[in-house]
Amino acid sequence: MSTTPKGREAPAAHAIDPLIARRWSPRSFTGAPLPAGALESLLEAARWAASSNNLQPWHLIVARRDREPEAFGKLVGVLSPNNQGWARNAAVLMLSVARATNPRNGNPLRHAWHDTGAAMAQLALQAASMGLQAHQMAGFDAAAARLAFSIPEGFDPVAAIAVGEVGPPEALPEALATRETAPRERRPIEEFAYLGGWKG
Ligand SMILES: Cc1cc2nc3c(=O)[nH]c(=O)nc-3n(C[C@H](O)[C@H](O)[C@H](O)COP(=O)(O)O)c2cc1C
Repeated sequence: MSTTPKGREAPAAHAIDPLIARRWSPRSFTGAPLPAGALESLLEAARWAASSNNLQPWHLIVARRDREPEAFGKLVGVLSPNNQGWARNAAVLMLSVARATNPRNGNPLRHAWHDTGAAMAQLALQAASMGLQAHQMAGFDAAAARLAFSIPEGFDPVAAIAVGEVGPPEALPEALATRETAPRERRPIEEFAYLGGWKG
């Protein structure tokens, strides 16, 4: 099952798993609630991410549009205006939060954001595998999110995530519809992978 429209699949230069090619970041969501069990599968996929010392520093605030409307509204409220415009139509909004210190010794958890990102990558791939998509967002007000959800010191709001069934590009305002169908691009491998040593 796939809701990756023709032309949105990654034009990979080398063989990759089709699931990775199918994951993308849409802005048009239908607003339909997730199918039964889908949210649990998304969270389970995040749960099984690798992490430094298996400390699993990720936390998630989760709000379904139809089931936790107050929290959903608060999440929409902390997004940047650009993101608010489209993300309010997602079935689910989430906010990832990283534990900043090691609970075993109080030292800074240097890989907390790394591990939280890895968990969200797994969540996004799980979404794509179920015919859904997840769109991560840096565009939100972290201080407002901390206040709105009483996130304690020692925990860092990292990214917002919109999840849902993909809608048609035509449902978006023109500028966003253009981005929704623009070619997907990446830097070539040689620009970030240096065989044998640093070549930046
Ligand atoms: C951590 C992170 C933050 C992002 N922030 C935003 C955002 O605030 N607004 C937005 O529209 N897209 C955001 N994106 C989506 C990226 O623009 C998108 O992943 C990138 O253009 C590559 O497109 P693709 O995910 O469809 O392959 C973010 C993605 C990530 C991983």
